[in-house]
Amino acid sequence: MEIVILPTPAAVGRAAAARIAAVVSARPAATIGLATGSSPQSTYTDLARRVRAGEISFAHARGFALDEYVGIPLDHPESYASIIARDVITPLGFVPSRVQVPDGRAADLDHAAKEYEDAIRAAGGIDIQILGVGTNGHIGFNEPGSSFASRTRIKTLAPRTREDNARFFARLDDVPTHCVTQGLGTILDAHALVLVAQGEHKADAVAAVVEGPLTSFVPGSVLQLHERATVIVDEAAASQLRLIDYYRYTYENKPAWQRNH
Ligand code: F6R
Repeated sequence: MEIVILPTPAAVGRAAAARIAAVVSARPAATIGLATGSSPQSTYTDLARRVRAGEISFAHARGFALDEYVGIPLDHPESYASIIARDVITPLGFVPSRVQVPDGRAADLDHAAKEYEDAIRAAGGIDIQILGVGTNGHIGFNEPGSSFASRTRIKTLAPRTREDNARFFARLDDVPTHCVTQGLGTILDAHALVLVAQGEHKADAVAAVVEGPLTSFVPGSVLQLHERATVIVDEAAASQLRLIDYYRYTYENKPAWQRNH
């Protein structure tokens, strides 16, 4: 796992965007795994800047969102379908029909989840997956206790996740109780993973993901099993890492010939 510690949230976004840009430049028809929430915002902002500058294009790329709430209307401003349209499809110039979000309103949610897995497979898999991490260590909405082998499925949101996400809704009671999320097994299948985290409130989760035991109690610790996982964090989110000096030294002295991707 590569750990990159940068001074500001904006620098985290620029570094993560550089990883995505390299993938889409090498392969314009690349498939990108898309996270929502606050963490990837600075990444999407920098990717949009690169698109406007003519450096990269997502016109031939595909996208698959990590997750979606169950039970809120598609056009609700906080549905992940709405957020992906607003923050990703429009500013990055994806063709809307080439970006999919799990269907949280399907009559048969199990079937829809299986179809989502099939669609990812039919697209040839995900080339690079953008991830955030919850304060409880979840990635996607794989809450503590999620199987490392899990695939896209329905999950019950943890009370802490609902509290954390209440900032996006008028009241805590308005936060959905369930979701459909790519599984940890689905995420592990991506060719490369880039997890971004900013702020002191993420420091314990980042330390548990990077340096804690491999345990389904901290679903993000599954990154330790992935061959090409990069964790890009600001100083505050890095503050609980025990080997912080080693990660800094490694990144600052990274030889040109040392490639992770
Ligand atoms: C979002 C997702 C979640 C978030 C996590 C952190 O698609 O899958 O894992 O990345 O809850 O959320 P923020 O970034 O809002 O702190």
